[in-house]
Amino acid sequence: MKNSKLVLVSLLVAVAFFATASLATARPIVIKFSHVVAENTPKGQMANKFKQLVDERLDGKVVVEVFPNSQLFGDKKVLEAMILGDVQIACPSLSKFKKYTKSLQLFDLPFLFKDMAAAERFQQGPIGQKLLTSLESKGLIGLGYLHNGMKQLSASEPLRVPADAADKKFRIMSSDVLAAQFQAVGAMPLKKPFSEVFTLLQTKAIDGQENTWSNIYSKKFFEVQPYITESDHGLLDYILVTSAEFWNGLPDDIRVEVKKALDEAVLLGNKVAAEKASSDRQKIIDSGRSEVIQLTDAERQQWVEKMKPVWKKFEKQVGKEYIEAAVAANK
Ligand code: SIN
Repeated sequence: MKNSKLVLVSLLVAVAFFATASLATARPIVIKFSHVVAENTPKGQMANKFKQLVDERLDGKVVVEVFPNSQLFGDKKVLEAMILGDVQIACPSLSKFKKYTKSLQLFDLPFLFKDMAAAERFQQGPIGQKLLTSLESKGLIGLGYLHNGMKQLSASEPLRVPADAADKKFRIMSSDVLAAQFQAVGAMPLKKPFSEVFTLLQTKAIDGQENTWSNIYSKKFFEVQPYITESDHGLLDYILVTSAEFWNGLPDDIRVEVKKALDEAVLLGNKVAAEKASSDRQKIIDSGRSEVIQLTDAERQQWVEKMKPVWKKFEKQVGKEYIEAAVAANK
């Protein structure tokens, strides 16, 4: 009797143990995807598409949680949080990696790419792909690029020639190249998080900023900036980034599926980027809140002449051969 009781208790303990163990192994892998822009942007839509594809294909084994609008982390903190394991995927602008690598500063050089097709050619070419690995010594892996588009200049007063920007305060991302670019026209650059830009503009703490049509539209910058100069003077694209510890720790079959979902989501994001570059521009014009200024060739040339000397200043840090490869992509 005593023995059979003992057997029963042992059996129950064993069942409980295996039930707990199988519950533990069935727990899904959670991917927190943190970004700073609105959901109706190229990056916002890319992130949501990635979640949808993972939900459809990975049978609950992986759960993606998307946090837009700096809800979880701003771009300043997100990479630190990633290394600590508090977020698994992010997609910061290429201008926000200064602390991690100097080479990506290449993408901030003013008037580097003539259009998005050139940026795409360069990113998919050998040097572009090599640059994705430039974060590895810091424990980060670049999984691919995502487009947003060419940047425009918005301001409280019309900007036609570089002299119009002199002594004005412009918010910039955390990039020394962008700081040098504005200093080259006698302006005052201020590094500030994206989440603060609208308030800084609304309260007139700054005079202007540079951004893409989709960011200017989705964050309503055009409502507090009466002038936007269509300058196409620089690129705002992204790197999809993860931590090496997280990525290499994924089971092989899951990693392959997650990467496939990311690549497909990027295709959608790039399509949205191309569409929004013209549709959000048009919505801003239609709103009547902001005048879009088109530059003559001679006016644009003045911006080129003032800003392009910045290349020389950063040539050593970025690498001359990288700059040459980017220029070659324009042909
Ligand atoms: C973003 O597009 O992710 C933000 C860009 C910015 O900080 O201006």
